[in-house]
Amino acid sequence: MSTPRGYAVAVLAGDGIGPEVVAEARKAAEAAAARFGFGLSWVDYDLGADRWLRTGEALPDGVLEELRSVDAILLGAVGRPDVPPGVLERGLLLRLRFELDLYVNFRPVKLYPGVASPLADVKPDDIDLLVVRENTEGVYVGAGGTVHRGGPAEAATETSIETRAGVDRVLRFAASKARERAGRLTLVHKTNVLVHAGDLWRRAATEVAAQAGVALDYAHADAACLYLVTDPGRFDVIVTDNLFGDILTDLGAAIAGGLGTAASANLNPDSSPSLFEPVHGSAPDIAGTGRANPVAAVLSASLLLDHLGEREAAAAVEAGAVAALPGAAGYSTQALGDRIATAVAGGGSPD
Ligand code: IPM
Ligand code: MN
Repeated sequence: MSTPRGYAVAVLAGDGIGPEVVAEARKAAEAAAARFGFGLSWVDYDLGADRWLRTGEALPDGVLEELRSVDAILLGAVGRPDVPPGVLERGLLLRLRFELDLYVNFRPVKLYPGVASPLADVKPDDIDLLVVRENTEGVYVGAGGTVHRGGPAEAATETSIETRAGVDRVLRFAASKARERAGRLTLVHKTNVLVHAGDLWRRAATEVAAQAGVALDYAHADAACLYLVTDPGRFDVIVTDNLFGDILTDLGAAIAGGLGTAASANLNPDSSPSLFEPVHGSAPDIAGTGRANPVAAVLSASLLLDHLGEREAAAAVEAGAVAALPGAAGYSTQALGDRIATAVAGGGSPD
């Protein structure tokens, strides 16, 4: 008899709509596990605004150590208006990205059938690209400081740090994705102004693309914003630095119909665990109303299953979510999650 496959998944549901959407993502993943014959054991962690307000801890060291040993992490959203900005973002989310060395932020930008894009005359096939965002360097490293704070001579620095090794590894990942797809990679940077980091990225990208046998294209970050709106089909795989990737992927989510369907994976392709989360935030304004779209979290769970090697299950979860999208706005978070789980379990349409 073969041993049943089983995975431990840590759940950081977080704040606002996080717990609501994560519950539906779990349902879909459970349905896939039952259908494809593997087990998921979920371990819940109550990190987020409440924990921080109660204890002052965003990510206790002991919890971080436990998280190192799970197979994957599913995160909902963190942040609430009663917690100062940056506390949970830096203390929890970015700390996890850095400590677990999740150097790839992988964000598909895909317009699904039945979802309206704000762009005129685009069909689903016209918007189907991947953004591979560097996730552990750049301006996110937190290097910098303030002097003479509050006085007339106040000065602040925020230093962007790029390393050749860090750039090379994310480029290699992006090039491998480009090879699996159309063989086209676009570097997005701002080499006309950021001449030091831009030069490093450009030389590294040229070498890595040549080694991988993929065609390399280049766009400045501002022009890439323009092209995403005027001609999204020109992109297939974009690779870019941390901050440009942050900005581009919100724009990407917008052209693909909004944050309701935007999924992401924070990956360390070389070791587990990786972290999966919807691109959207905690949306405190709609928390508890049943109006949150769980699809972005469900699609993030699909990326999680794919990363665990459960390809069929991942495809079934994606298909279930996509099948539920037309008319999704007419359903509550839970009703939509139920429809998706039913589709995933049965392999048929939710009706
Ligand atoms: C994202 C978010 C985060 C980021 C914030 C919450 C720190 O905007 O995942 O895109 O800037 O990376
Ligand atoms: Mn962002």
